[in-house]
Amino acid sequence: MRDPHRVAVLISGRGSNMRALVEMARDYEVVLVASNKPAAEGLVWAHERGIATWAAESKGQTREAFDRQVSAALEDHGIGTVALAGFMRILSPWFVEQWRGRMLNIHPSLLPNYPGLDTHARALAAGDEAGGCSVHIVTEELDAGEVLGRIEVPILPGDTPQSLEERVLAAEHALYPRILNEFVNI
Ligand code: GRF
Repeated sequence: MRDPHRVAVLISGRGSNMRALVEMARDYEVVLVASNKPAAEGLVWAHERGIATWAAESKGQTREAFDRQVSAALEDHGIGTVALAGFMRILSPWFVEQWRGRMLNIHPSLLPNYPGLDTHARALAAGDEAGGCSVHIVTEELDAGEVLGRIEVPILPGDTPQSLEERVLAAEHALYPRILNEFVNI
């Protein structure tokens, strides 16, 4: 049975947002950390804390074949809410349908500005006064689902994509757990 308070976090790399979600959980529990990269750093951190982990290499498989494996792992753990956190793989329409309305993502821009990659460089090149981050519902269209919350981060003179990324990342770590703690009670 799916329980909205049982959360799976999907990662592909270092997993700093996943760590923030684990550490600031109040109304939910992260019961599974799953990855399309068996070597993802974040898996080690989760395992050391006694959180179940699941990983399979996605390369060489069709999108839906891989997604069916992920979905089966989620069902096995009674997951009711999925949090994408640096999961660098586009999900199949099949998977999105399975988890419709129950799957969130964190994106490093003030959506609807700058969906996709290189958000900080694009914000700087455009001369924006602020960057930021957004948590949104995942739909078939990349970074385009309903926005549930955003934090704006001012762009400072001399900012580089890296310096802006660092400050936005700190804002991500505050925003994502806050939104998820609210979302699981809806
Ligand atoms: C974050 O900036 C997130 O917004 C983006 O990918 C990055 C993942 O970082 N989707 P981490 O793995 O959570 O540290």
